[in-house]
Amino acid sequence: MKKLNVISRKYWNRQPCNIKHSKKKLFSKEYFNEVSKKRYFVEGHIKNFVNFKKWKNKKVLEIGFGIGTDAIEFLKNGAKYNGIELSDKSHEITKKRIKIFNFKAESLIFDEAENLSKHFSKKNNFDLIYSFGVLHHSSSLQKCLREIYKIMSPKTELKVMLYAKNSYKYMMMKKKFLRYEAQKNVPVIDFYDHEDIKKLFSKFKLKEVRQDFIFPYKITPYKKNKYVKVEHFKYMNKNIFNTFRENLGEHLLITARIK
Ligand SMILES: C[S@@+](CC[C@H](N)C(=O)[O-])C[C@H]1O[C@@H](n2cnc3c(N)ncnc32)[C@H](O)[C@@H]1O
Repeated sequence: MKKLNVISRKYWNRQPCNIKHSKKKLFSKEYFNEVSKKRYFVEGHIKNFVNFKKWKNKKVLEIGFGIGTDAIEFLKNGAKYNGIELSDKSHEITKKRIKIFNFKAESLIFDEAENLSKHFSKKNNFDLIYSFGVLHHSSSLQKCLREIYKIMSPKTELKVMLYAKNSYKYMMMKKKFLRYEAQKNVPVIDFYDHEDIKKLFSKFKLKEVRQDFIFPYKITPYKKNKYVKVEHFKYMNKNIFNTFRENLGEHLLITARIK
């Protein structure tokens, strides 16, 4: 395994993504339902980006499924779900979550994305390969994209979210107005602009690259599940907020195919 990923795995094992999003009894149905509710309330653009319904009876591979919130959404909508995840703790939680909700995944692999082609090939004929907020934490985005390319067939759609450099969040962090609260002290984190994406995805046919998502809430109440907007967003006109979101959103939403 890549050295950096050994460190990364320890980090994600200590704090699996969004694990604190509910105060209900850990890993109960109620707990997982609340985690999902919070995710899609705060990050409503995910459903719009993925369109979970579209993948009914289709073969889906998710890279870096975390505690399985999107996995459940795919399964709920009838997808044939496969996943790969670096953190054994997250892998274990997702396995439990899928069982609790009486779903069945086709496969749930515990490994790094850098080893994708050891587990899958073009023959899997995936309809969708999906990865949300993962590959900018990997040891090498280039290596992961090479691995993804190897296993994509002409019908595979690739949907990836990477952090945007040209974003409100990045600017505020640079000015030290904001800290990276969601993943404090994360071992690897990268940010990309549209030019970087063109270069990184030069072997792919880019269908769409767009920005979305501004987090408008105050952090302290948010941690207690209270949604209080910071003043400048509270009074911002909706159209202006949308313009902000589309131009300076922190998520780069990429849809691609192979050439
Ligand atoms: C920010 S979380 C996102 C999880 C999930 N996609 C979501 O949106 O909730 C990042 C996840 O990627 C996983 N991860 C990081 N590097 C990885 C790699 N190289 N291969 C596979 N998974 C990785 C981490 O273990 C963690 O679960």
